[in-house]
Amino acid sequence: MVEEKHLQKTHAAKPVVKTPKPVLSWEEESLERLSTGFTGLDQSLGGGIVKGQVILLAGEPGIGKSTLLLQISNKFSEVYGNVLYVSGEESTSQIAIRARRLGIQSNRLFTFSETNLEALMDTLYEERPNLLVVDSIQTLYSSNLESSPGSVAQVRECAFKLSEACKELGIPLFLVGQVNKEGAVAGPKVLEHLVDTVLYFEGERFNFYRVVKVVKNRFGAGGNLAFFKMSDSGLEEVPEPSAFFLQERVSSSGSVIFPHTEGSKPVLLEVQALTIQAIYTTPQRRTHGFDLNRLSLILAVLEKEAKIFTRDRDVFVNVVGGVRVDEPAADLAVALAVVSSVKDKPVGDIIVYGELGLSGEVRSVHFAQERLKEGLRFGFKKAVVPRGSYVQMDEMEVLPVKHIKEAVEVII
Ligand SMILES: Nc1ncnc2c1ncn2[C@@H]1O[C@H](COP(=O)(O)OP(=O)(O)OP(=O)(O)O)[C@@H](O)[C@H]1O
Ligand SMILES: [Mg+2]
Repeated sequence: MVEEKHLQKTHAAKPVVKTPKPVLSWEEESLERLSTGFTGLDQSLGGGIVKGQVILLAGEPGIGKSTLLLQISNKFSEVYGNVLYVSGEESTSQIAIRARRLGIQSNRLFTFSETNLEALMDTLYEERPNLLVVDSIQTLYSSNLESSPGSVAQVRECAFKLSEACKELGIPLFLVGQVNKEGAVAGPKVLEHLVDTVLYFEGERFNFYRVVKVVKNRFGAGGNLAFFKMSDSGLEEVPEPSAFFLQERVSSSGSVIFPHTEGSKPVLLEVQALTIQAIYTTPQRRTHGFDLNRLSLILAVLEKEAKIFTRDRDVFVNVVGGVRVDEPAADLAVALAVVSSVKDKPVGDIIVYGELGLSGEVRSVHFAQERLKEGLRFGFKKAVVPRGSYVQMDEMEVLPVKHIKEAVEVII
């Protein structure tokens, strides 16, 4: 009896009973791609953004999040109609100052300051813009919750309600997420599951290169990068990042070219290593754009497996242009840059990639062909690659290596 009652209760609580169908019998929705106004960014996003897509743009303070989104809003409004840019961080006068500096002309880009979710939702349903930008999600709060703005509960609630509304209205939504110095998306880490797309805006604040990394995308492949240059008048796309990063290169010892990609579009980056006799008893290890622990591991493997000793040397590794490289495929490039510096012997115009295992084995990596093609496009005629991801190329000497020792022998 008790069980029956319970059953009845649960059935009554169910809203609408839906019928599952075989997966392939469902209609495919055709997705209209809308341009952000930046060609490279559109490509990285799989051809543009789509209606109802929720995109989180996360980045450190001052990196240029508001600048990028104001520029996107401007271009978007000129093509598709009204855009609503809501700021909880800055006053309308501050936004206007930035808009003038960026040369924004559109009269279909509307801004206002708001931090209350319910008030914002009312405006949203009334105005029904073609794009909504919320800068930032941490400044919003819902009157239904008692916790303070920026708390996990608030951030989650506000993002959930906004994305639900935008999906219903078919409006693409950009949410700005602040990231702290340690690189964690404060609060919005919980958002990464909730949104369709996660973009990381990276770069050195004192350097003018910026990169937008597509970390997750439900409407296209992840891992792609879009490069920008920051100036007084805003962000400008760098259409040929490889050429841009290589323009000041001098082929000296310690310099190796690494075709970096986590998606399908590689970019050639210069990895530099400098090793000098240590002055202090504990030699220094410093990196810029590369993980320090990963460098320690590479140095250990070099010593044990290839007899390249750096224990009495300071080692500095730098990825030129302020780009941060996290993919393991950079291991071999870093290792050979160190070897080249230790031996004081330039490696010449070679591109190098491969992951290093603890026994010195060179492991295969993704996108081998794309990486080689990008090298070829910029005149590189030689490559050192993992045997497991060997691809034969016309006009390029591709040298497959199985172990770090073999790779070292190729360059010295
Ligand atoms: N004349 C200028 N005045 C202000 N900022 C400028 C100027 N020229 C270039 N910039 C760049 O704009 C950046 C600020 O950009 P923006 O305000 O969009 O960053 P943000 O990521 O939104 O920062 P926040 O986290 O504070 O909101 C500065 O760090 C600087 O690099
Ligand atoms: Mg901002």
